[in-house]
Amino acid sequence: MRRGSRNIVDRVDWSVNEGERWVILGPNGAGKTSLIQLAGARLFPTVGTATILGEKVGKANAAELHPLIGLASSALDARIPGSEHLHDVVRTGAYGVTAHWREQYDEEDDQRARGLLATMGVGELADRTFASISSGEKKRVGIARALMPDPEILLLDEPASGLDLGGREELMGSLRTLSSDPAAPSMILVTHHVEEIPAGFTHVLLMKDGSVLDSGEIDDVLTSENLSECFGIKLGVEKTGDRYTARATLN
Ligand SMILES: Nc1ncnc2c1ncn2[C@@H]1O[C@H](COP(=O)(O)OP(=O)(O)OP(=O)(O)O)[C@@H](O)[C@H]1O
Ligand SMILES: [Mg+2]
Repeated sequence: MRRGSRNIVDRVDWSVNEGERWVILGPNGAGKTSLIQLAGARLFPTVGTATILGEKVGKANAAELHPLIGLASSALDARIPGSEHLHDVVRTGAYGVTAHWREQYDEEDDQRARGLLATMGVGELADRTFASISSGEKKRVGIARALMPDPEILLLDEPASGLDLGGREELMGSLRTLSSDPAAPSMILVTHHVEEIPAGFTHVLLMKDGSVLDSGEIDDVLTSENLSECFGIKLGVEKTGDRYTARATLN
């Protein structure tokens, strides 16, 4: 992907197979959001090709692909009118629109929206407005919304940013539960922090300066050496159970 004189996503050769759950990890400006937008057919390659669910991505088929690819990001949240009730915020996800207008919903859509809000732990907020809920609650509603069309692929751009420790850990639990459901979509999650990788995620793509530093199975790629190179500071990574932590090392 070229913007101005820069390649913001450069020479990326990456395949995600059904059932895999990937984390895209890297520092600010690495190109993570650009790449996940490409994976969601929201942006297109300047050179090269992206094939999603068997379709070569281009402007012509983007609208058909969108309902198959759920996307949750704060950029999307920012487009939701504050006066919208959460129930509608989630229901409109079925159509990929951000505000209720004249779409028709049936009883099944209503139940699905309420069920997804409950699954994400915010079921009791269904009648509140989007402006009235906290940033952590918005993250959960955004994921419920992304799941509304029953997508084949779920893309989450920094789902845990801005959450407090309890909120983050609750979200990690929800994503773990979701990923252990055999009917769950394939998932790709963007983050800056190894602590925000939910248990059950299988692969990592490390990005730096628009390129892939390394990618593959999580335990092979998430090494202290790789992470130090990625973030440009000497880091040690530790695994406890199915979760990771990283911190600067002194030598
Ligand atoms: N439309 C654009 N025009 C010019 N530069 C762009 C454009 N979109 C993104 N960039 C640049 O491309 C680089 C990658 O941006 P991107 O948003 O993909 O990074 P990121 O890894 O998601 O960063 P962060 O962790 O801060 O969210 C950044 O340097 C950004 O300024
Ligand atoms: Mg980003």
